[in-house]
Amino acid sequence: MTDKIILPEHIGIIMDGNGRWAKKRGLPRNMGHKKGAEVFEKISRHCRDLGIKYLTVYAFSTENWKRPKEEIDGIMNLMRSYLKNMQKAAGDHIAVRFIGDRTPFDEDIKALIEEAENADIGEVITTVQIALNYGGRDEITHAVKEIAKKAAEGSLSPEDITEDMISANLYSASPEADLIIRPSGEERLSNFLLWESAYSEFVFMDVLWPDFTEKDLDAAIEEYSKRNRRFGGV
Ligand code: FPP
Repeated sequence: MTDKIILPEHIGIIMDGNGRWAKKRGLPRNMGHKKGAEVFEKISRHCRDLGIKYLTVYAFSTENWKRPKEEIDGIMNLMRSYLKNMQKAAGDHIAVRFIGDRTPFDEDIKALIEEAENADIGEVITTVQIALNYGGRDEITHAVKEIAKKAAEGSLSPEDITEDMISANLYSASPEADLIIRPSGEERLSNFLLWESAYSEFVFMDVLWPDFTEKDLDAAIEEYSKRNRRFGGV
């Protein structure tokens, strides 16, 4: 990387292209997700080594329940094995958090998630947020419901609702995303970090997620560094 690098504080990644990667090799789609999970671990560590404070990855959307049961079970099993091997899988100084509605998950997954979130990992360099059963609209709806409860109880007047209050009631506890990367050639947000992407820079890349390397992340950060972010100013 060149020396004019501006590190984003928060990177979001839509891990797309696992199915196509597997199809190209005549493998079942779940093999693409398996490779995708390995790449996720490698990229988490690279973010930690670069000093990125937050990495949010889209692992399972509120729409992904429409996929065949076998594929959903495969993704959940990957999640199980990641969570069970957390200490080895996540890497030192990486805190793991989950964003999304976890109510429909099997009890063992819920327990593993809680264990992972409460693990004492010492000094935190990078917080990885795994978006699981996550949807941007669902996240905003959830925040609005939390605020509406206070309004209904009478402890909050509707005129006093602020953007900061909505931010504080989201699933994520990170600053807004500075850079959102979508590999696989698709150029959409697909309900990822809707509120948190108001001023994000987007980098779309042709590489499929299972082929994504540390160099691709470096290239996306370099592209981000070249952009002139004005946040609506001049
Ligand atoms: C999108 O590719 C990918 C997903 C819906 C699943 C992503 C999940 C993982 C990488 C595993 C996560 C595991 C951990 C431990 C975080 P796609 O299936 O839509 O690909 P396609 O567009 O080529 O069909």
